[in-house]
Amino acid sequence: MKVIAVANQKGGCGKTTTAINLAACLGKKEQRVLLLDLDPQGHCSLGFGVFNEDARDLYDVFTGEAVLEDIILPDVFTGVDVVPATKTLQAAENLPVRRDERDRLLAKYLMPIRDRYDYVVIDCPPSMGLLCFNALAAADLVLIPIEMSLFGMHGIDRMYDVVRELRERHGRDIPVRVLPTLVDSRTRLCRQFLREIGERFADDVLPVMVQFTVRLKEAARQGLPVIAFDPTSTVAVQYGRLANETMSMLQDDAATDGVGEPATGLPEATAAVQHNNPANEAVPVLQSHATPGGMEESRKRLGTMKRVFEEARSRLSRQGGLQKVVLRFYDFTGRDVKLAGSFNDWRPDQGVVTRTANGIVEKIVMLMPGTYQYRLVVDGLWQEDPSNPEQVSNYSGGYNSVLQVEEEHATEHA
Ligand SMILES: Nc1ncnc2c1ncn2[C@@H]1O[C@H](COP(=O)(O)OP(=O)(O)OP(=O)(O)O)[C@@H](O)[C@H]1O
Ligand SMILES: [Mg+2]
Repeated sequence: MKVIAVANQKGGCGKTTTAINLAACLGKKEQRVLLLDLDPQGHCSLGFGVFNEDARDLYDVFTGEAVLEDIILPDVFTGVDVVPATKTLQAAENLPVRRDERDRLLAKYLMPIRDRYDYVVIDCPPSMGLLCFNALAAADLVLIPIEMSLFGMHGIDRMYDVVRELRERHGRDIPVRVLPTLVDSRTRLCRQFLREIGERFADDVLPVMVQFTVRLKEAARQGLPVIAFDPTSTVAVQYGRLANETMSMLQDDAATDGVGEPATGLPEATAAVQHNNPANEAVPVLQSHATPGGMEESRKRLGTMKRVFEEARSRLSRQGGLQKVVLRFYDFTGRDVKLAGSFNDWRPDQGVVTRTANGIVEKIVMLMPGTYQYRLVVDGLWQEDPSNPEQVSNYSGGYNSVLQVEEEHATEHA
């Protein structure tokens, strides 16, 4: 059994769509697949048209009230069983567990079913909490969908850091692969992002991408994977290729198994898996231009990235793609308040305009629609936003506040 964790802290980048469609394509290729929904939003069961808010989920397994086998929904699609999620799963983020067991819970519960499936595909939540850590720690492959839009790459360094930490802690390699999603290669900006991604992530970028198409939304609305909804569509072919690609990667890589006992000794830090594209599909823009480089090399690359982003940001601003978001704070008179979040690489007040009047502090940022996490730095101390009830737990044991920027209207948060 091989475990594929589909993860990215960034919301709305196509994790669930990828998990559902990858699982369905693997199932169609006669693989035995378990799609495991680790996101309390429960979108996997919605996407397969089997959502039930009273269903038992992994929370019941973590608390000992059910065993994993009992909560599996069998044959949701050809070859695919599903472990659903409901909003109670959110409570799992705060389970009191022994520190040394914190990220191995899921692997432990997957052990008894390891002979029953060829692949477990995990849909991770858009936050880096206990659930996501468990998925990454159990993974034989971490698949990161990256949305080809401004800020699409935000937070990816953090993902890589976490995977590196887990590799060291558990003494085994965990290959990472990047999948460009929502690709609209007609736009210059998107082509530029694709080039950048190829340069920045080099060999980790899959030779497959997923184009932007309404067919995926329509399929999800019908509760179907796209290979059932529109099997001849380009995107169905693209997800089929992704299945081929991951199968050939993981078959070659028979030595590792994220669910078994941790190995002793760490293999080479760089991914040992060769790219092998059975469909023989060339994707020229994604070919790697990078050579292994040191700090200097990666600093240079980051410099180029920043310039591209700045250029893109001003262009989008002119086009009205960015939205002005005003966060207002009433309780910090006379205190130094800074804003840091996934939108500014957690650098306090970077790219943020501050206005103070009549005891009210306003923080103004220009953001694309999407979901962001942020914290305040008040007199040098990091804390969540006390006026925002929407929070997610973070890995350091605290909470991040969640900011949702909707499409096409300015957002003001009082
Ligand atoms: N390639 C695509 N083209 C067009 N729309 C897409 C594509 N992929 C995903 N979408 C749509 O974008 C939205 C977000 O996708 P999805 O739910 O898969 O993202 P996610 O990363 O799982 O989000 P979250 O972080 O909230 O879990 C959905 O409405 C989905 O139908
Ligand atoms: Mg999702």
